[in-house]
Amino acid sequence: MTASIFQDRLLSLGLARVSEAAALASAKLIGRGDEKAADQAAVNAMREQLNMLDIAGVVVIGEGERDEAPMLFIGEEVGTGDGPGVDIALDPLEGTTLTAKDMPNALTVIAMGPRGSMLHAPDVYMDKLAIGPGFKEDVVSLDMSPAERVAALAKAKDCSSDDITVCILERPRHEQLIEEVRSTGAAIRLITDGDVAGVMHCAEAATTGIDMYMGAGGAPEGVLAAAALKCMGGQMYGRLLFRNDDEKGRAEKAGITDLNKIYTRDDMVTQDVIFAATGVTDGSILAGIRREVGYLTAETILMRSKTGSVRRMVYRNPV
Ligand code: FBP
Repeated sequence: MTASIFQDRLLSLGLARVSEAAALASAKLIGRGDEKAADQAAVNAMREQLNMLDIAGVVVIGEGERDEAPMLFIGEEVGTGDGPGVDIALDPLEGTTLTAKDMPNALTVIAMGPRGSMLHAPDVYMDKLAIGPGFKEDVVSLDMSPAERVAALAKAKDCSSDDITVCILERPRHEQLIEEVRSTGAAIRLITDGDVAGVMHCAEAATTGIDMYMGAGGAPEGVLAAAALKCMGGQMYGRLLFRNDDEKGRAEKAGITDLNKIYTRDDMVTQDVIFAATGVTDGSILAGIRREVGYLTAETILMRSKTGSVRRMVYRNPV
């Protein structure tokens, strides 16, 4: 094997360590009301661990542009440089407010794939729609109204709209969306933050009780969620949303020409990737960090899209 081949099998345990380290570092800051400190601790630990991996990595989804983020900025080279060229999408702490307030579903998240495997999404909003595995392709679409999506999914599941649960970020911008989904009889699980976990919930509907994800959230988080669903199974669609010319400029800088394009999961993540996430606070997908005298325990989900393998690992770390 040459160094240019993406050795996903060998790299996956290293990726889990990166994600674990970030979660363990933020543990002391759970429930302390300091979002920035929690994020910084996760960023430092993630970067330190990434730089130990034998990869020539480039951050394509990161903490922000170089002038806004001193570490893990978009374009930052990470790893020892001695290994395959890879692209990395990361969010060292997805749910900084959830962590600061000790609310559910804060995660550390990282995905890795060959060069050019992931959409370089600008830091703008993305309109997102996701469902779990086992449905005909395009059973729902972003071009349908929210009520049509609920009806289409209910038909595909052979159930009534009342049996569908939709996950939506609670934001003023979603008032109309929430009203329309409620008018169908569907239930809504409102979340205050953390739409990567929100989308991932759809892939494990039997456990999480969530059938569909809808609404606008960060575009970088959209690519991370697409990477997760590529491993877990499920469909996802995203369309970038622009509030002004500056945001359009960000997209053009990232090489995006069609500003209205609807991206499918596989448009956002075009080749096989590996994905790791570690629970920071307790959630429906992962347990959060447990703090006991003498040690910390972290749960990580580690997945490879090539094989569809999903591992859950519990790591106990003496402190
Ligand atoms: P942070 O971890 O950076 O706080 O982001 C959390 C998050 O809820 C994301 O999951 C989501 O995509 C985005 O913020 C939504 O943005 P906004 O808070 O502006 O609605």
